Amino acid sequence: MKRVRKAVFPVAGLGTRMLPAAKTVAKEMLTVVDRPLIDWVVSEARAAGIEHFILVTGRGKGAMEDYFDHHVELEATLAAKGKTDLLAEIVSALPREGEISYVRQMEPKGLGHAVWCARDIVGDEPFAVLLPDMVMDATPGCLAQAVAAYEQVGGGNIVVVEPCPPGEAHKYGIVALENRQGRLGRMTGMVEKPAPGTEPSNLFISGRYILQPEIFDILEKGERGAGGEIQLTDGMAALMKSQAFHALEFDGTTYDCGDKIGWLRANVAMALKDPKLADAARAALRPLFD
Ligand code: UTP
Repeated sequence: MKRVRKAVFPVAGLGTRMLPAAKTVAKEMLTVVDRPLIDWVVSEARAAGIEHFILVTGRGKGAMEDYFDHHVELEATLAAKGKTDLLAEIVSALPREGEISYVRQMEPKGLGHAVWCARDIVGDEPFAVLLPDMVMDATPGCLAQAVAAYEQVGGGNIVVVEPCPPGEAHKYGIVALENRQGRLGRMTGMVEKPAPGTEPSNLFISGRYILQPEIFDILEKGERGAGGEIQLTDGMAALMKSQAFHALEFDGTTYDCGDKIGWLRANVAMALKDPKLADAARAALRPLFD
């Protein structure tokens, strides 16, 4: 069983649910408290043992390359002003040289196509996919839980899932399972946005995956699915005919930051969890509800 060393972060989408901000600010650079979404997710991947980070970018997404690089003037100014803690925090969060790669998706043709764009950098080994607009609050981190599940079942493909709110299955990609043991079950299928009452479970696909490289041969065909996009879900459904897939119901909370209310919730929840901010955040927010 090969170890999961590489992770793909598709960040080339248009972010239409976050317009007008997403017109000129990459959705993945919107902040939750004081860090952009992409930073939360790259940190989660690092904590799961990922050694190489592959961002699939597009037009208007260059800020992410600058974010993961030195800012010479800023660092010099912080040093000159003696702000050593802040300087150390900023510098220690940087990837080491050569640890991060960027590949361009020239047109946002869908998540499956974005993942396929990373094929040459991933090569012939299992890899993780993390959707940066899904911020997961979990200990251990969500991807670390997925890697542990991957090791427990002896490889194959892992799809992280979680229960959707009652009556909302028709909005999501839903998995069908058998032989569920604890938080893990063998997947037998998945349906995108099932008609109400037809959903095979209440578990939706929530944005973390471990996949085998054979998915690239399937995505290569460029078959269009829902919304005219090349869908990762369709690619996985095809791969499931020849490879094992397990669904992991992870232990934690997801914030869908690609959506205005989800993003707002994440900001409040993470500020209330931050020991340096919690008291002040609570005091500032409480009067808004009185
Ligand atoms: P989403 O569907 O949430 O992103 O894809 P979107 O299309 O940008 O958002 P809306 O629905 O228009 O608001 C999940 C992730 O996949 C990336 C997005 O950038 C996001 O991080 N993505 C999506 C790509 O990289 N390429 C695509 O063609 C589509």
